[in-house]
Amino acid sequence: MALVTSKEMFAKAIEKDYAVGAFNVNNMEIIQGIMDAAKEENAPLILQVSAGARKYAKPVYLLKLVEAAIEDTGLDVCLHLDHGEDFDICKSCVDGGFTSVMVDGSKHPFEENIALTKQVVEYAHDHGVVVEAELGKLAGVEDNIKVDARSATFTDPDEAAEFVERTGVDSLAIAIGTSHGAYKFKGEPYLDFERLKEIHKLIPNTPLVLHGASTVLPEFVDRCNQYGGEIPGAQGVPEDMIRESTKWGICKVNIDTDLRLAMTAEIRRILVESPAEFDPRKYLGPARDAIHRMVQHKIKNVLNASNKR
Ligand code: G3H
Ligand code: 13P
Ligand code: ZN
Repeated sequence: MALVTSKEMFAKAIEKDYAVGAFNVNNMEIIQGIMDAAKEENAPLILQVSAGARKYAKPVYLLKLVEAAIEDTGLDVCLHLDHGEDFDICKSCVDGGFTSVMVDGSKHPFEENIALTKQVVEYAHDHGVVVEAELGKLAGVEDNIKVDARSATFTDPDEAAEFVERTGVDSLAIAIGTSHGAYKFKGEPYLDFERLKEIHKLIPNTPLVLHGASTVLPEFVDRCNQYGGEIPGAQGVPEDMIRESTKWGICKVNIDTDLRLAMTAEIRRILVESPAEFDPRKYLGPARDAIHRMVQHKIKNVLNASNKR
């Protein structure tokens, strides 16, 4: 039981067509809910932290919470920086005990993305830390971009092969139609599987990462709507599309929105049904249980990662 890199997890996942869940964390209840689910499913696990989450919880609290969870469950965990936008934050996480960092240079032109990624890879590898990079842009429907304009931002397979070769990166996040948040598609959900297959064919040994992979489970959206402000028109990535993607090199599936929805739905329900309640344990405890159930469902039924530890 220790903090580990994702190297071994991905080597197994790519061979056996399943994916490791990478769940965003920022507090104790979220970490506990996820860890308990992974323990019950005997599954490999990545806990990831955005720059915003790291600032919110303070770096030392997050690290100590994850260390405590490892001690409590006896699981190995990969602790990953999500969307590191420059060298400094990646370096700070490498120095601060993370075992994996993402350098997200996707907003930069190709050559600049390569230069930034190479700089991070060099530093991280020198310190035994693995690196995820991103090529292509995830566009949200809220950006109001038409479908053909959206696909112009998808990852180019030849560029992906050149990028991996020139940077030495350990895994690559690609854009094939997903986006962050609760509003991913306006009409029918669409992922460019032909593009994914082409990328996987050119770089079959590179673990690919699917960002924006929340399903936006109707159960939680309905409950949020029932007990408070509406989340109308929310639309996630269907579970069968996530399952399909794991056949074509997707080894890491990023989930944040589904955690937020599961937690919020439960807290709203309790505070509406019991408005006199003011003990945080009475709503954070059930919220932790909701996260536990949701993550267990993902690991077992969507990622096919049960008993893959
Ligand atoms: O990809 C973004 C993650 O959902 C993290 O979001 O920056 O609001 O923590 P955040
Ligand atoms: P979701 O918003 O779909 O959960 O995506 C999370 C993500 O990609 C974190 O990097
Ligand atoms: Zn992301």
